[in-house]
Amino acid sequence: NGLMVYDPGFQNTAVVTSTITYIDGDKGILRYRGYPIEELAERSSFLEVAYLLINGNLPNKVQLDSWSNRIMTHTFLHENLVGMMKTFRYDAHPMGMLISTVAALGTFYPEANPALVGQDIFKSESVRNKQILRIVGKLPTIAACAWRHRIGRPYNTPVNHLGYTENFLYMLDKLSEQDYKPNPVLCRALEILFILHADHELNCSTAAMRHIASSGTDPYTSVAGAAGALYGPSHGGANEAVLDMLQQIGAKDNVPQFIADVKAKKKKLMGFGHRIYKNYDPRAKIIRRVAYEVFDSLGKEPLIEVATELEKQALNDEYFIQRKLYPNVDFYSGLIYKAMGFPTDMFPVLFTIPRAVGWLAHWIEHCEDPETKIYRPRQVYKGEWFRNYVPIEGRP
Ligand code: CMC
Repeated sequence: NGLMVYDPGFQNTAVVTSTITYIDGDKGILRYRGYPIEELAERSSFLEVAYLLINGNLPNKVQLDSWSNRIMTHTFLHENLVGMMKTFRYDAHPMGMLISTVAALGTFYPEANPALVGQDIFKSESVRNKQILRIVGKLPTIAACAWRHRIGRPYNTPVNHLGYTENFLYMLDKLSEQDYKPNPVLCRALEILFILHADHELNCSTAAMRHIASSGTDPYTSVAGAAGALYGPSHGGANEAVLDMLQQIGAKDNVPQFIADVKAKKKKLMGFGHRIYKNYDPRAKIIRRVAYEVFDSLGKEPLIEVATELEKQALNDEYFIQRKLYPNVDFYSGLIYKAMGFPTDMFPVLFTIPRAVGWLAHWIEHCEDPETKIYRPRQVYKGEWFRNYVPIEGRP
């Protein structure tokens, strides 16, 4: 119709009004609920930021303690779900395991499925909150089980008196509860990475979350679908792709040839460029600093030299300057995760845990929005106009 606008990839289409995250891509500004990302990364904990995103304000001490306790008492998985995870192939990708297990998680809570109990259950704040506690609480456990499966070790049960990231690190690599001494530099680095990844307004996976939720489906299925969108190399798989790229380049001396290949469109500089940021991604600046803190504690990651040289040459090259291509959040995050001992196939999983908080904040907004409609974009049809059916014997 006359009002329809062709907009591939929704580059210029606003489909919601939101009060969660503000981004000014030209100035490199990112704020959650009005708070600059730099201050949150410096001073907040991940669960405090999760509370902020979900509830709209920073919690006081009593609210934070209660929120943290409630999340940490929702960390256990039903034994049948654990049993299901054990049936995955021995080398199953942890992200594939996570996506399917989160979808399966929904089947354990039929009371939270509008298709089974009626459309209006998510108008109730308490019904929504219960699902949020379950998803935020159980995701690190699912992620840790997926990893333990991958390395062929027994799964670990959560330890609820530990902090959120401490418990996650513990479940990945348990010696014994008594011996467990988390490295405070690693815990803090992981908290900061989780804070930085928690929300980014209507990115591909959050748009997928809202898209799926718009048909009234349950949040477990929506989160599984959003995680599927996150998995791709142009989105949450980018830090894995950055590391592969750095490994392929191998040494500083090979950087000019790689840049030449990118300019000839033979390759893409992964970890560079962003749909919204046409300036340095503010998260990349913080991550760069965290990377050096982690390397000071754990020893230098040799690929950092290749990354620094690549960044320097790209930032001074006309191709990248003209197209406003700067490092994004993923350029350094993979190097930190590698230094911490995570294999590359865990990277998208490490992105999913915090981003689920953003998805759920958007889900609440969706549930409360009186103007919400089922998502149904239009298309421009360019196919055959009209053809008569030809029986199979008559076809060329
Ligand atoms: N390397 C080389 N050239 C690039 C890159 C890159 N990473 N990104 C964009 N370009 C070029 C692109 O070829 C195009 O050039 P031309 O005008 O000559 O055709 C121009 O820059 C504009 O690019 P675009 O594809 O129109 O930009 P987009 O907004 O559609 O894509 C992006 C954004 C993030 C998908 C893209 O920049 C990209 O693929 N980057 C690498 C993957 C990556 O790091 N993704 C993580 C994004 S941040 C975390 C997240 O949101 O998940």
